[in-house]
Amino acid sequence: MARIIGNLFTSHVPAIGGAIAKGREQEAYWKPFFDAFPPVRRWVAETRPDIAVVFYNDHGLNFFLDKMPTFAVGAAPAYRNADEGWGLPPYAPFEGAEDLSWHLVESLVAEDFDIVTCQEMLVDHAFTLPMKLLWPDQAWPVKVVPICLNTVLFPLPSARRCWQLGQAVGRAIAAWENDARVLVLGTGGLSHQLEGERAGHINAGFDKRFLDSLVDQPAWATQFDIQALVREVGTQGIELLNWLAARGTLGAQPAQQLHRTYHIPISNTAAAVQLLVPA
Ligand code: DHB
Ligand code: FE
Repeated sequence: MARIIGNLFTSHVPAIGGAIAKGREQEAYWKPFFDAFPPVRRWVAETRPDIAVVFYNDHGLNFFLDKMPTFAVGAAPAYRNADEGWGLPPYAPFEGAEDLSWHLVESLVAEDFDIVTCQEMLVDHAFTLPMKLLWPDQAWPVKVVPICLNTVLFPLPSARRCWQLGQAVGRAIAAWENDARVLVLGTGGLSHQLEGERAGHINAGFDKRFLDSLVDQPAWATQFDIQALVREVGTQGIELLNWLAARGTLGAQPAQQLHRTYHIPISNTAAAVQLLVPA
């Protein structure tokens, strides 16, 4: 059976891509964030995942305001990145793990999740930057399955439903007759708000409580409704739903934390990186 080897969570602020393109990783502003990655990359090189399942949110590249699925699962042979207007160089295309995609699609629909299945899908910075942070040379050694959550256009899925989605994905991977080693990524967050009167809002207390919860009390955030979560972490900080769903794949039991970085600010965002493995 396939096996989930860990969860890697990271912020996906577009400016990270700009810093990489300009070789600024060691500058004082950037170093505290980029220093998270050498140990994480060593762990990834040692554990050799075959497939990356990536929980992320699209920001208007593939889905726009006219058509916004609550949950979308990629089932494409390949996924292209394209210019979103951030001035970042598009990264190399990603090969899809089509067999796992279709297994997940069938399993999720059988479990009553009304997902959208995408046989064509562009992937934006929320997908590409975490991949680039793990594999800087863009010779992607893994096939991918993108799972896109709507965190951008109300109404948003509840934390409870995102957690349930992740648990269902975890069960489906565990039941997949394949010896693949699967790394599950969750991207975005933590607290940030890019617009309105509260632009610049950051909530380190809540972020740290959330990071703690992912280790040994992973359903903790499901007690909050969306309005309460947005109040705490901001209108874009709600991207933490991607982390919560990804953590669901490891189930309700405690995990072991191999790495954690929390740093304020990167652009407008409280930036965090966390690596968890099954305990
Ligand atoms: C920023 C953060 C994001 O998550 C995003 O998608 C775009 C911009 C920022 O802090 O600049
Ligand atoms: Fe974002």
